[in-house]
Amino acid sequence: MSNLKWWQTAVFYQIYPRSFADGNGDGIGDFRGITEKLDYLKDLGVDALWLSPHFPSPNWDCGYDISDYVGVAPEYGTLDEFKTFLFESHQRDIRVILDLVLNHTSDEHAWFLESKSSRDNPKANWYVWVDTPPNNWLSCFDGDAWTYAPERDQYYYHYFMKQQPDLNWHNPEVKKAMWDAVRFWLDLGVDGYRLDAIGTIYEDPNLTPHNVPMNLTELRRTTELAQTPIMKKKMEKYWHDMFKNQWGQPGVHDLMKELRAILDEYDGDRMLVGEDDNIAYMGNGNDELHLVFNFPLMRTERITPSHIRRNQKERLPQLEALPVKGWQCNTLGNHDSSRIYTCYGDKQHDADLARLHAALVLTLKGTPFLYNGEEIGMTNYMLTDISQVKDTMGSWYYHAIVTEMGVHPYEAMQRTAAMTRDKNRTPMQWSNNPNAGFSPADVKTWLPVNPNYADGINVRDQHNNPNSLLNYYKHLLRARKQTPTLIEGDFIPLNNTSKDHFVFLRKTEQETVLVVLNFSEKNLELNLSRAKELKGRELQIIFSSAGRANTTQNPRSLHIGSFEVYIAEVK
Ligand code: GLC
Repeated sequence: MSNLKWWQTAVFYQIYPRSFADGNGDGIGDFRGITEKLDYLKDLGVDALWLSPHFPSPNWDCGYDISDYVGVAPEYGTLDEFKTFLFESHQRDIRVILDLVLNHTSDEHAWFLESKSSRDNPKANWYVWVDTPPNNWLSCFDGDAWTYAPERDQYYYHYFMKQQPDLNWHNPEVKKAMWDAVRFWLDLGVDGYRLDAIGTIYEDPNLTPHNVPMNLTELRRTTELAQTPIMKKKMEKYWHDMFKNQWGQPGVHDLMKELRAILDEYDGDRMLVGEDDNIAYMGNGNDELHLVFNFPLMRTERITPSHIRRNQKERLPQLEALPVKGWQCNTLGNHDSSRIYTCYGDKQHDADLARLHAALVLTLKGTPFLYNGEEIGMTNYMLTDISQVKDTMGSWYYHAIVTEMGVHPYEAMQRTAAMTRDKNRTPMQWSNNPNAGFSPADVKTWLPVNPNYADGINVRDQHNNPNSLLNYYKHLLRARKQTPTLIEGDFIPLNNTSKDHFVFLRKTEQETVLVVLNFSEKNLELNLSRAKELKGRELQIIFSSAGRANTTQNPRSLHIGSFEVYIAEVK
């Protein structure tokens, strides 16, 4: 293979530790469980893992409120168990990156407890403190951005929940403490970090107020009820204007450069991927983040050929234009979004569409990120009772619309179930045993198990079924691995304007591969012979989602079945 780095050729798989595998049978995922599943992941064919936070946390934001950056949450195990997991992953050539939350800590972190204790303690200036709220800024999770701390008779700033105070990144001591934590895990051998919410690290120094005539409850509720395109656009603008002074502010580039320099001190090509879609955070292509996510690809109601075309046309040239060429990073789902199977389905052809979506992410140019459970087609699970809700952003919203807006609790619960991120964080479905084999039958899992595990949406049943989505993912991942052109080849869209299908080539000097994704029910007969790469050539099949007997086809009259994924070498 060419001189690509491991993070360019790898397929990443996101593990949400609380829900992945429960090794000690207490209803919560843990390192023992994850380690036991490494053979499963190896067999699936992924090369790297991104772990959502595994640190001690009071879990106001499911682990994204960290109370100790160099520890392991007791419910997930011990540091030794983490080390075993890392060792066993590396033994299998699986890399591991961790989640790094820079913007805020938990309000139970020792740094915050000290900072809050008085106005003149050594950490008094580690967070963002003011005497009175200087503006009308909001927290995007729970209303006001300024929360009163009686100990100091002052207010602290938080972009997320009040249990997640923002660190003061202008303070060099904060940097030093955080960089020490970064080194702690790098020293243990982790391969890099996914950086949480980097856009929120700095705020507008002028503290400019927002000018949106709504509070957070009204903003969310009105957005939810917006029906017309005009209203939807208006709400989009309101969201942007509401937070524009608290987000994407200067300073992040320098910080990313500092962090990158730390990673570069280590051997083994440690990497950084930012939870942001702004390509500018890749700096000159070599001095900030290695990757940013191509979130615009998933920011749509349906994945259509026109949407994909537009997305690629917009992003790829920007990456190419960096002084050191940048590399794309594609994903369709994570722990904050809706399940791919549910949100991009059409309720009629969901199974076919799931196969197309997987093929898209695994054949486009760039590093793919998969989210645990998508390989078996896990779906959103709608909670029915507010007492089940673990995502506090969701329970806050429920209570806000019930008390502030008089929404009926039944409707409020339906809305909450749809907006909360609990819906895509339910336990991984391992088998058809009670509790989906995640935990023993008599144990109450931390979030309910989606009962559709009993209908074949589980690993064991799908493992035994050659036609399952799981086996489809495995075949596709193998095809990708065995066809280096699908990893390193240039992306050449074949200039079609079709609303039904998306056709492109991946091309290296040695090889050209054709990919056809038919997003429609129609059987197609395509004439691709006008493309110079295909003129007078023959197509030799590499992979097809339709059981095909014919192994070669002519690009002049290429037959593609309904919803087929077709990948072929151009001979
Ligand atoms: C990121 C995480 C999300 C979390 C938020 C605050 O967006 O992905 O889960 O709630 O940051 O840390």
